Amino acid sequence: MEARPVEDERELEQILDLQRANLARNLSAEEIAGQGFVTVEHSLEVLRRMHQIAPSIVAKEGDLLAGYALVMPVECRAFIPILEPMFERLGALGMLEKRFYVMGQVCVAKDWRGKGVFDLLYLAHRRHLRPAYELVVTEVATRNRRSMRAHLRLGFTILERYRGATDEWALLQWDWK
Ligand SMILES: CC(C)(COP(=O)(O)OP(=O)(O)OC[C@H]1O[C@@H](n2cnc3c(N)ncnc32)[C@H](O)[C@@H]1OP(=O)(O)O)[C@@H](O)C(=O)NCCC(=O)NCCS
Repeated sequence: MEARPVEDERELEQILDLQRANLARNLSAEEIAGQGFVTVEHSLEVLRRMHQIAPSIVAKEGDLLAGYALVMPVECRAFIPILEPMFERLGALGMLEKRFYVMGQVCVAKDWRGKGVFDLLYLAHRRHLRPAYELVVTEVATRNRRSMRAHLRLGFTILERYRGATDEWALLQWDWK
């Protein structure tokens, strides 16, 4: 298993397939509670534009996608309007002064959960992005206990919690310094 930057368009399509399978609307209540879920749905066009700015990180076993963690530098703000409230909050917290990027969404395929792929993805983030950024920020729905637990275990800390339209969110940061 290796975690590395996305290499081609086929991998962007694999990300969309895994994303679709983990959208809350495609999961049962038990799966949402026990396994977690993703909220934001991207188009191939948006993933292509993100890729032009910075490649996301994927964990692959042969041709199979075991997981992904999206790289979203602040430049993506212009074409992902659904993230605008998060960027506004980051601005209010003074974060826009710092050299940070957003980890836009993380997902591990069901068969690979609990096997270290989450850590592998974030360690590859740190390896590839630390030269250009001092910290990474992400947002997790607090009812996603599994994702909250994994992020806090890795070293993320909570910047703030707030209520959005669908969920209570925690804004998290992982400071590499
Ligand atoms: C969230 C996700 C990325 C984490 O990857 P993973 O491989 O399952 O994570 P790990 O097994 O490394 O860590 C999960 C942690 O949560 C714990 N956990 C598992 N189920 C839990 C639950 N229902 N409630 C609380 N904690 C739970 C595990 O024990 C583990 O903690 P530990 O290492 O301290 O024992 C993965 O489960 C996933 O893709 N879920 C579906 C999509 C998703 O939720 N994405 C995140 C969006 S923010």
